[in-house]
Amino acid sequence: MSGHVLVAYASKMGSTAEIAAGIGAEIREHGHLVDVRNVKHVQSVAEYDAVVLGSALYNRAWRPEAVHFLSKHAEELRAREVWLFHSGPIGPHADGLQAMPRKVRELAERIGAQPAMTFAGRLEPETAQGFLARRMAATVLAGDVRDWDVIGAWAQDVAAAISAAEAGCWNRPGQSQEVSR
Ligand SMILES: Cc1cc2nc3c(=O)[nH]c(=O)nc-3n(C[C@H](O)[C@H](O)[C@H](O)COP(=O)(O)O)c2cc1C
Repeated sequence: MSGHVLVAYASKMGSTAEIAAGIGAEIREHGHLVDVRNVKHVQSVAEYDAVVLGSALYNRAWRPEAVHFLSKHAEELRAREVWLFHSGPIGPHADGLQAMPRKVRELAERIGAQPAMTFAGRLEPETAQGFLARRMAATVLAGDVRDWDVIGAWAQDVAAAISAAEAGCWNRPGQSQEVSR
C-alpha cells in the first residue's frame, strides 16, 4: 500500500506553487500517491495519510489561507504525518533560515510538526504582483534564487519518512493500529 499524500501550498506570485509541484513530483517518485493543491481548495484532509504544507512569506507572515488551513484542521493534522515549509528569502540573505511566525509556530506545536523548512524564493519583474513587489523586483533583490537541489533533498527525506511510517503503521483516526508517534 502506498501512502496518499497532500502537498498543499499558499502562493501569491507562483513561486511557492512551483516548489510544491517539485516536492510532489519527488514524493511521487518514491511510489506514493500525491495530490498537489492550492490550500484554498482543500476542504478536508480525511483521505490523506500525510500532509506537506508550504507558504510564501510576506512581511514575515504566512499567507492567511495557509494559517487558516492549519488552524481549521489542527486536530486531524495532529493525527497525521505533517511537514511544513516556507519560502521567501531573496537577495544577499537568501540562504538564511526564516523564523516561523508566532501563530504558525503555536499551531505547529499543537499539531506536533517539526519547525518549517526554509527555501529561498523568487522575485522577478515578469511575475511580480502589486506595486511594492514590482518596485522590489526592479532592484538588486530581484532574481530566482530557489535551490532545486535543496528542495529535492528535503522532499526525498520527507518521502523516506512517509515510507518508514507506512512500513510501520499509519496513525489514522478510527484505525485500530498501533500509534506511530
Ligand atoms: C512585499 C513583499 C514582502 C516580502 N516579505 C518577505 C519576508 O518577510 N520574508 C521573506 O523571506 N521573503 C519575503 N518576500 C519575498 C517573497 O516571499 C518571495 O518573493 C517568494 O518567493 C514569493 O512567493 P510566491 O511567488 O509563492 O508568492 C517578500 C516579497 C514582497 C514582494
